[in-house]
Amino acid sequence: MNVILLGAPGAGKGTQASQISDRFGLPHISTGDIFRENIKNATPIGLLAKSYTDKGQLVPDEVTCQIVEDRLSRADCKNGYLLDGFPRTIAQAEALDKFAKIDYVININVDFGLLMDRLCGRRVCKDCGESYHISRLNGETKCSRCGGELYQRKDDNPETVQSRLDVYKAQTAPLIDYYTKKGIILNFTSTDAPPSVLFAEIEAKLIELSK
Ligand code: AP5
Ligand code: MG
Repeated sequence: MNVILLGAPGAGKGTQASQISDRFGLPHISTGDIFRENIKNATPIGLLAKSYTDKGQLVPDEVTCQIVEDRLSRADCKNGYLLDGFPRTIAQAEALDKFAKIDYVININVDFGLLMDRLCGRRVCKDCGESYHISRLNGETKCSRCGGELYQRKDDNPETVQSRLDVYKAQTAPLIDYYTKKGIILNFTSTDAPPSVLFAEIEAKLIELSK
């Protein structure tokens, strides 16, 4: 099963991806995580990506598409994968069509009013990438999954979040129409309810479709 997770910044793509990946045994491929790893290691891709991610802008399509094409050619993707944060432009979706066959696009709709708080209150595990929100951490500073330190992403500040939301509306939201026309979109809504509620809906749908 080759699946894309689509949604605005803070919609819960990473949160859901981690559970979907565990439940269905699909490698979780997040372009944002790949860029952050490269930035941490100061690779040439990292140095280029940093100038875009720090401003909440998209890394150029050619660079991003090549990274994803290389990643999907690895052995662990042979029996399926979960793409998180890619594609993010129509050009990326068209490029992906040339090297991959996508079965489903899970689109997470969310009220934009929730996103600033979700993102500015997010804490992420340095080791496994799990996302938390300060309102549910009760002062805990370690990841409950692997014990790693939690940190705040550099792009999770009000100004950069606003720019990421604007970029989503202009460049990524048109993908909903693109995949609706292809008949492979599955629509869900993320509310104030805990992430496990949305996961249960996604899980049920994927089980139904794989029968
Ligand atoms: P990326 O890392 O993909 O960031 P993003 O799309 O902005 O999305 P986020 O990771 O911020 O949000 P999410 O939907 O994963 O939410 P999460 O589950 O963490 O990309 C970063 C940057 O890299 C981009 O800006 C760009 O520069 C570059 N980039 C990446 N891909 C690219 C591409 N394809 N092309 C070009 N450039 C690219 O949840 C958020 C918070 O909400 C957490 O605190 C979480 O605990 C909480 N939460 C989640 N679900 C719920 C819920 N149901 N109720 C309450 N809180 C919830
Ligand atoms: Mg994410």
